[in-house]
Amino acid sequence: MAKIISGKELSAKLKAEMAAEVATFPAKYGRVPHLVVILVGEDPGSVSYVTGKAKASAEVGIRNTTIRKPDTISEAELLEIVDQLNADPEVDGILVQLPLPKHINSDKVIAAIDKSKDVDGFHPLNVAALWQKHPCTLPCTPKGIIKMLKSAGVEIAGRNAVVIGRSNIVGLPVSKLLLDENATVTTAHSRTRNLGEVTRKAEILVVAIGRPKFVTADMVSDGAVVIDVGVNRDPETGKLCGDVDYAAIEPKASVITPVPGGVGPMTICCLMENTIECFLRRF
Ligand code: GUN
Repeated sequence: MAKIISGKELSAKLKAEMAAEVATFPAKYGRVPHLVVILVGEDPGSVSYVTGKAKASAEVGIRNTTIRKPDTISEAELLEIVDQLNADPEVDGILVQLPLPKHINSDKVIAAIDKSKDVDGFHPLNVAALWQKHPCTLPCTPKGIIKMLKSAGVEIAGRNAVVIGRSNIVGLPVSKLLLDENATVTTAHSRTRNLGEVTRKAEILVVAIGRPKFVTADMVSDGAVVIDVGVNRDPETGKLCGDVDYAAIEPKASVITPVPGGVGPMTICCLMENTIECFLRRF
């Protein structure tokens, strides 16, 4: 029986602490932090994430503006909105929900966001700062994963960590954060040979590939710590499921995160934290 890390419970506790802090801001700074989320198109997953971000903002006392635009918006129009938000002194955080439609260059849009308002930590200067161990805004999902590991008392230093996935949003930055915590890190991906052999060496296994129940019990060693970043629909039941076969792996693992209620709520919680950090840096 694994210890289950509830991201839902941990994030509720952290959001309550942030709410208490934010409540003191109007007296100190004359206003509360303001997060602007830009959603292009109607992708159901993105709509659900953006709704979750607005709900969490309300819980913490952060002002939230969601700008919704049709997927026919041009790159130039989107860049114009980003420019206006960069120049607005009442905006502390800007988040452009990804993915963007194919005709828009996401890298260009992310690079256009003022680095000091980049609550996602995706701006090239924030990414560079992360890889050079300089102070920076950390990407939300990797930051949330490290908080979950620490909250569960998982020792990271010196342990074998395997990350499946090498995306800019999760795989690469969480590999770097685990390395910074002194783990021995392997980043596996779609071209990794004998993946099971690699993952069975993991004392900490982070899975972020976006394929339902991709990691099976035979790929996980007894006592492993398993962090599941996936949010997928189970093709058989239609229910939400992660990248790991939870029912089969939970009895083997020492620690595991559920889907839903695991990494997802912690990502949003860290977005709130990043928004507060960006706000405080302005004073
Ligand atoms: N799409 C999926 N995850 C994320 C995220 O963390 N930030 C943004 N902006 N878009 C996403």
